[in-house]
Amino acid sequence: MINNMEMKTKIREKFKTLFGGEGEVFASAGRINLIGEHTDYNGGYVFPGAIDCGIMAEVKVNGTQKVRAFSLDYDEYVEFGLNEEDKPQQQWACYIFGVCRETTKRGGKVEGFDCVFAGDVPLGAGLSSSAALESTFAFAINYLFGNKIDKFDLAKIGQSTEHNYCGVKCGIMDQFASIFGKKGNLIRLNCKTLEYKYFPFDPKGYKLVLVDSCVKHELASSAYNKRRESCENAAKAISKNHPDVEFLSDAKRVWLDEVRDQIPEEDFLRAEYVIGEVQRVLDVCDALERGDYETVGEMMYQTHFGMSKLYEVSCEELDFLNKLARKCDVTGSRVMGGGFGGCTINLVKEELYDGFIAAVKELFPAKFGHDPKFYDVVISDGARKVE
Ligand code: GLA
Repeated sequence: MINNMEMKTKIREKFKTLFGGEGEVFASAGRINLIGEHTDYNGGYVFPGAIDCGIMAEVKVNGTQKVRAFSLDYDEYVEFGLNEEDKPQQQWACYIFGVCRETTKRGGKVEGFDCVFAGDVPLGAGLSSSAALESTFAFAINYLFGNKIDKFDLAKIGQSTEHNYCGVKCGIMDQFASIFGKKGNLIRLNCKTLEYKYFPFDPKGYKLVLVDSCVKHELASSAYNKRRESCENAAKAISKNHPDVEFLSDAKRVWLDEVRDQIPEEDFLRAEYVIGEVQRVLDVCDALERGDYETVGEMMYQTHFGMSKLYEVSCEELDFLNKLARKCDVTGSRVMGGGFGGCTINLVKEELYDGFIAAVKELFPAKFGHDPKFYDVVISDGARKVE
C-alpha cells in the first residue's frame, strides 16, 4: 500500500500548492508482532515485522528555523519552532516536533523544513501508526541534514519522542520494526542486548490475518504505563535476592515465587505473564525453524490467555474473537500490540480462511453491534527514501 503511487501523487500535488517546488520523499511502516508482547521494556525478546502500510512524507529544507507541516489525513496545517517551548497543540504535530527535539538532543543538526505527509496505517488498530510517523521523520531528518545517526539511535529517537512528548513509556519494539523492517522477514530482537536476527517468514499453506475489533479504549496509555511500573516493581523485589536481575527477563519463574508475598498480587500476575512470554518467543523461533506451525499457533493462544487473564490488557471483544478463532480451528490467535482494543493476529490454514472470516463477519456484529475489519498481512520494508 505504501508504494501506492496515488498517495505519492497526492502528497506531491499538495506540496507544490502549499510550498512550491519539490522535496524528497520518505516512508516508513507500521508493524505486526508474531509473539513477544510487553516484553520489550522488560529486556526480553520481541518478534515483529514491518507491514505494507505506513506513512509517506515529502520533506524539503526551507532555510528558516521553522517547521511547516501539513497532514493530508487531518487536512490540517501547523507551524512550529524548534525550541523546547515551541511544542505544538496538535497530537500529530507533536510526533514530528518530538523527533526534531530528540535529534537535536543527540547532537544532530535540525533546521526548518516544509513537509506534507499521509498514511494508510489504520489508526487505533495497534499497528503503530505513531512509530511509522516518528520513523519516517527520524529517517528523513537524518538524511536531509547529513547527521549520520545510526539506525538504532533513529529508533530510539522515536521511542524517546513517545516518552518525552507523548506520555507513553513504550519499549523499543515498534520503532525498531519500523526502521529495521525487511520484506518477507520477521525480526527477533533481544531488547536488552539489542542483538537481532532476521527470520524469513513464508508459512506455506497458511495466512496471517488481522481482525480489527475497532475498539479503542481511552486511558490506554496510562494503563500501559501502569503495567510497566508493576513489572519494574516485581523486578526490583527479585533483585534483592538475585542482584544480577536488572529486568524481569533476567528472572527465573521460581525467583518470582520467592517474592510473591512481598509484592502486590497484581504485580505478581503481570510478572508471571512476562516471564512466560519471554520464553514463548524463543520457543516460537525454534518451532518456525522446524516448520512446526502447530506449536507456533499454540504459543499464540497461550499468549492470549496471559494477556487476558494475567496482564489484563484484553477486552470482551478481543476475547470473543480469540474464542471464535479456536472454534474455527484457526492455528494461532491472540491480541496483538499493547492491547486495550485493536486487533487479533491470526495464523490460519488457507483452506480454513474463508470459513473463519465468514464466521467473524456474522457473529461479531451480532454480538457487538458494529463490524470488524480485516487486514491481510504482507511483511515489507521499513524506513527508506522513496525514489
Ligand atoms: C506498544 C508499545 C511497544 C510494546 C507493545 C506491547 O506497541 O509501543 O513498545 O510494549 O505495546 O508489546
